Amino acid sequence: MAHINLGVFVSGGGTNLQSIINACEAGRIEATVTVVISNKKKSYALERARHHNIPAYHVPTGKKGSPEFAAADRRHVELLREHDVDLVCLAGYMRVIGPELMAAYSESILNIHPALLPSFPGTHGQEDAADYGVRVSGCTVHFAWPEFDTGPIIIQAAVPVLPDDDGDSLAARILAQEHKIYPQAIQWYAQDRLHIQGRRVIVDNAPPPTILEAIISPGLEI
Ligand code: GRF
Repeated sequence: MAHINLGVFVSGGGTNLQSIINACEAGRIEATVTVVISNKKKSYALERARHHNIPAYHVPTGKKGSPEFAAADRRHVELLREHDVDLVCLAGYMRVIGPELMAAYSESILNIHPALLPSFPGTHGQEDAADYGVRVSGCTVHFAWPEFDTGPIIIQAAVPVLPDDDGDSLAARILAQEHKIYPQAIQWYAQDRLHIQGRRVIVDNAPPPTILEAIISPGLEI
């Protein structure tokens, strides 16, 4: 693969979307965001997309198992096909994705989670880590499997949890690392350097870990 098209799913403010768009526009990764989809009409991420002239859609999903959910699942695949998407990036998308999308983009859906999986899966990863009292937490980019937050791990970044941290302060520290590792994972995918072997992901020519203000393993190249 050389240059790939991305479909990004969002629910919130879209800072991860922004970091991906910036990396694309600066030529740091060989990708273009061709469509953005949100389950929330007021998601600021949709605004961000429009500022960059990227088609942006609100697709309400309803509850899992409902007719609305099945319709959204079909609509997702339709939109992704319409915009020639090669890789789906879940970037702060707070809903489960449907079986049609999972089948249509098998092994081509990435997710970012704000904790060091398999620790603290679910929707409050940062708060759960701070409350638990761990000393190190971080973020994970992984291939999405049907069960939430379980798929093979591509890259993780670790940050310290400081004594006065709450969920919000820890989330901010983690978010800064999310913005680095997600574009990197996408670039490896674009370069066809990721190979899933069972639970493991082999990264061809993986660089040694980057140790800066965080431990990022495999290390950053961009
Ligand atoms: C990120 O921490 C992401 O990992 C989490 O939700 C947050 C979304 O942030 N699941 P943003 O919308 O990308 O700013």
